[in-house]
Amino acid sequence: MIENIDPDKLPQHIAIIMDGNGRWAKKQGKFRAFGHEKGAHSVRKIVEACAELHIPNLTLYAFSTENWNRPKLEVRALMKLLVNALKKEITTLNKNNIRLNAIGNIEALPTGAKKELKEVIAQTQENTHMTLTLALSYGSREEIVKTIKEISLKVKNNLISPSDIDESIINNHLYTRDLPDVDLLIRTSGEQRISNFLLWQIAYAELHFTETLWPDYTKDHLINAILDYQNRERRFGKTSEQLNS
Ligand code: FPP
Repeated sequence: MIENIDPDKLPQHIAIIMDGNGRWAKKQGKFRAFGHEKGAHSVRKIVEACAELHIPNLTLYAFSTENWNRPKLEVRALMKLLVNALKKEITTLNKNNIRLNAIGNIEALPTGAKKELKEVIAQTQENTHMTLTLALSYGSREEIVKTIKEISLKVKNNLISPSDIDESIINNHLYTRDLPDVDLLIRTSGEQRISNFLLWQIAYAELHFTETLWPDYTKDHLINAILDYQNRERRFGKTSEQLNS
């Protein structure tokens, strides 16, 4: 399996919509928070696997702007899980040369989570093997609105003219400004939608949907997704003949 992966055709950026924690817990007759706890174990395994496979960028949809509407108790459990995971994993991140990054409206997070997150980001910022980005209080439409506001202000203040606006200027104002476009987007749990995740950045991404619930997701599932990606022909608008000539 792993030997079938072509090291010259690795996705440079994998993004994952980790879905199905709640359904996984329900199937066991447990509270949703139990599913999230198990989901955090999957996060650890998949980060490790990506580092081992030399995937330079991994972005995880950990908490969306819409997730604030979940029951207070569940939101609190997710934030607690995040803080605990950050506290626990800082040594492992540094040992494996992994840089932690975050995208989203981080200021909206509870003080404790915000503080811990900023601390781990600062303490791992020199790491170069892989960038692990957590999307927290993230919504793609919110990100695009923020981008348009920032660019409009620059136009208003005569820092740039409307004719200067191009894709690279837009890229440079997104939360993901220092990340490459997504090559492979994975969503677990059988749902086949994007749910307001990285709408601009997935323009040419290959999409991989699996029935597996996130707490059951393993390195083997990830390898399958990468093999599936490597079997696709990415044409970027060109014809198959143009690509093969
Ligand atoms: C989706 O399952 C999952 C989430 C909303 C949150 C993802 C969070 C984790 C995996 C926990 C830990 C994260 C970190 C970064 C340590 P769902 O609740 O929507 O499941 P359902 O669709 O079955 O209800």
